[in-house]
Amino acid sequence: SAHDHAQTHKAQILVASNRGPVSYTLGDDGELTAKRGGGGLVSGLSAIGPDADALWVCSALGEGDREAVRRGVGEPGVRMLDIDADTHAAAYNGISNSVLWFVHHMLYQTPLEPVFDAAFREQWAAYEAYNRAFAEALAESAAEGAAVLIQDYHLCLAPGMLRALRPDLRIGHFSHTPWAPVDYFRLLPDDIAEQLLRGVLGADRAAFLTRRWADAFTACALEHLGEEALDGKRIGVHGLGADADFLRERAHRDDVEERLVSLREQVGGDGTRKTVVRVDRTELSKNIVRGLLAYEHLLHTRPEWRENVVHIAFAYPSRQDLAVYREYTAEVQRTADRINSAYGTPAWTPVVLHVKDDFARSLAAYRLADVALVNPIRDGMNLVAKEIPVVSDEGCALVLSREAGAFEELGDDAITVNPYDVTGTADALHEALSMGADDRDHRTKRLAAAATALPPQKWFLEQLEALRS
Ligand code: G6P
Repeated sequence: SAHDHAQTHKAQILVASNRGPVSYTLGDDGELTAKRGGGGLVSGLSAIGPDADALWVCSALGEGDREAVRRGVGEPGVRMLDIDADTHAAAYNGISNSVLWFVHHMLYQTPLEPVFDAAFREQWAAYEAYNRAFAEALAESAAEGAAVLIQDYHLCLAPGMLRALRPDLRIGHFSHTPWAPVDYFRLLPDDIAEQLLRGVLGADRAAFLTRRWADAFTACALEHLGEEALDGKRIGVHGLGADADFLRERAHRDDVEERLVSLREQVGGDGTRKTVVRVDRTELSKNIVRGLLAYEHLLHTRPEWRENVVHIAFAYPSRQDLAVYREYTAEVQRTADRINSAYGTPAWTPVVLHVKDDFARSLAAYRLADVALVNPIRDGMNLVAKEIPVVSDEGCALVLSREAGAFEELGDDAITVNPYDVTGTADALHEALSMGADDRDHRTKRLAAAATALPPQKWFLEQLEALRS
């Protein structure tokens, strides 16, 4: 069951997501410190203005958050649910990140995975309880006829549960991930597949980042539920774009300038060295290791690049409760170290790897990038691909996986790669590094225009309007 602040006020617009806009850390002195998060949803919601009657329902994620809820510390417009820690862990680490994330990103390594056994069924019960806690909180906090926007794979059952509690509400669901193709979604036990689809279709409108994921969802619904299940339902596409105004201003503040100086030092040389930049969570789907292998192959087969290029790779730890993520993080580090010992010289470090999350340094790297490497196995959108062309100082060439959602909008001006093809990716890096200045300029402008077509505020309002109409 969920403990949180008593809420008497009822909101007209509600957003629900696992990770909320604020998190708390608990200091040794018992002091709680609040940290505001970023991301598309945070800036999207700002579009409705501070006076709008909005409430964001999210879950308490760590000890700091739980302590904040217990002490009644919070922010206006945010309702944090303190769901029992074991239930949350099974729903978040178990079902959400080890099953649904794997299915939609096609990450399973058969024949050993997946195994849907009794332990999985227990986790599934926790996922149901977790979704129910959200549905109940939303039902309690929503005004008559309110619009509720439920986010992502953590909350696939909540729309259906909420609909049963509050048929008066306008309910939307938005998937920030890809959706699995029919033949891969069929890995899931039939009853689970059906519950997930029925849960999402409990919403009036299910929306996705690209047409490709929307079509995959529709195909899965037809396969498992039949045509009737889609009767009266609307399927939408809203391709979240980069927030140009925010990024351009933020990328020229002092802290970014300082990091730019220090990054240039790490690149070294006489100022003519080129950079290949990537910035990711250390996420299995981001394909960081194959990216490094491609870079290594480039140095191996095209020695003219030795001493003349540096790969700046920022890989920020993510989901470290999961062993497979911890192993992957270590593999990224090992691969970078190996390349540096094989090719490095006293005056040149081929790979500059940083793992400590630092937004100002990420922006500095964006500005410096000659080549942006975005090679995910599968990705709902990938905002880094959209942000780098907007921020880059002198234009950059984009090497982009055809499996990223962003490919639908950016594909024409990017150098396309199959993310599994390491030698192909090395060729693409060479092509990108060799691109002429005019071509690069021209492409960067078009990439930036495409990337900013639907900034977060518009993206959010578009969904709200579609839900209300
Ligand atoms: C993806 C998901 C989000 C999630 C984010 C970070 O973008 O679509 O829902 O919040 O990854 O992952 P985390 O597990 O740290 O929340």
